[in-house]
Amino acid sequence: MDLDQLAALRTAEGVAALDAAARVSAGDPLAAASALRAAGVPAGLAAAALTQVELRRRATAKFGAAAAGMFLTRAGLEQATRGVVAARRAARLRAAGVRTLADLGCGLGADALAAARAGIRVYGVEADPLTAAMAAANAEAAGVADLFTVECGDATKFDVDRVEAVFCDPARRAGGTGRRIFDPNAYSPPWDFVTRLAERVPRTVVKVAPGIDHGLIPAGAEAEWVSVDGDLVEAALWCGELAEVPRRATLLSAQEGHPGNRLTGAGDREAEVGPVRRFLHDPDPAVVRAHLVAELADELDATLADPAIAYLYADEPTPGPYARCLEITDVLPFSLKRLRALLRERGVGRVEILKRGSALTPEQLRRDLRLAGDAAASLVLTRVAGAPTVLVCQPVRG
Ligand SMILES: C[S@@+](CC[C@H](N)C(=O)[O-])C[C@H]1O[C@@H](n2cnc3c(N)ncnc32)[C@H](O)[C@@H]1O
Repeated sequence: MDLDQLAALRTAEGVAALDAAARVSAGDPLAAASALRAAGVPAGLAAAALTQVELRRRATAKFGAAAAGMFLTRAGLEQATRGVVAARRAARLRAAGVRTLADLGCGLGADALAAARAGIRVYGVEADPLTAAMAAANAEAAGVADLFTVECGDATKFDVDRVEAVFCDPARRAGGTGRRIFDPNAYSPPWDFVTRLAERVPRTVVKVAPGIDHGLIPAGAEAEWVSVDGDLVEAALWCGELAEVPRRATLLSAQEGHPGNRLTGAGDREAEVGPVRRFLHDPDPAVVRAHLVAELADELDATLADPAIAYLYADEPTPGPYARCLEITDVLPFSLKRLRALLRERGVGRVEILKRGSALTPEQLRRDLRLAGDAAASLVLTRVAGAPTVLVCQPVRG
């Protein structure tokens, strides 16, 4: 896709081609291309329309129904923030009184659109001309072009004095290959620009990889880890006046109207260690990455069984959003033979396998167990006081 193709897709003929592509593209791509050509759509336009429709279909998982009107590139979609996460961030910025925001490296505009929908005036800057043009088209399609404008250029040159707050979601993929970048110094805009930004603008938010080294978190910033339906999706640094607590785990759901849950704390405490007890609580990954396991242990009246492993053990199945609860039926020092014998005796033919602190591969273990039977069980591969251990469990419902 290039700028000319994008412009063509936005003409009346392009809109008709997109509609036609949406109708024919569900099956075989070659058949869809021929159907469009048979309907008189020029080959280049047909190819561009079919690509857009395919990307929009994929984007529905991130943006819901709004995806149907968006213009997307493959790389832009991969890097874009999910709608539910962007909407929550925008609501928090609005609640903090932010009325004008710069989005430095706005990509296709997922974060900026959410901020504009929340009533914030957003100035987007994007280095890639096609991505910038698509972001502007997305603002129009969303009906917020008066609140979200896009400039194609270098975000590091933007005059931040024009706005009350700044958001930056640096590119963390290598341009040519699309490979993920783990070294923050290779981010674009670069990490030193991002950290200086936080020093210059009193209200700065930076989206970062969820695996960020805690040592890189600027002093005084709030670090937030976000999961959606149990998948860890990102971390964000809320700097300056926007920082409310040292560490936060935010658990969201893609389910419409779900309020989300948040656990906060200093993130510097260790949970107490004790024996394996009747119930195991498997904390949400956002809680683990935020180093809030000790805070969760307080809520659940739970302890660890190994100081280095974030499974919590309690006498009660206290329900809550921050951890999945399993009832432990058996505790075995890890031995394939013993485990196989026990599962045979119980008629267990189906297992889910969870692991923390074990080098075993679940798929290999499943093969080696040669399961047979109608019953189901959850196996937890872990360490207890340093010793490789398997816990046979049943999920606690509700
Ligand atoms: C991770 S993406 C942003 C995604 C966006 N937050 C969203 O949810 O749609 C980062 C973007 O920053 C852009 N970028 C990288 N360096 C830049 C720079 N110096 N100036 C402007 N844009 C830049 C990249 O082209 C890329 O589109």
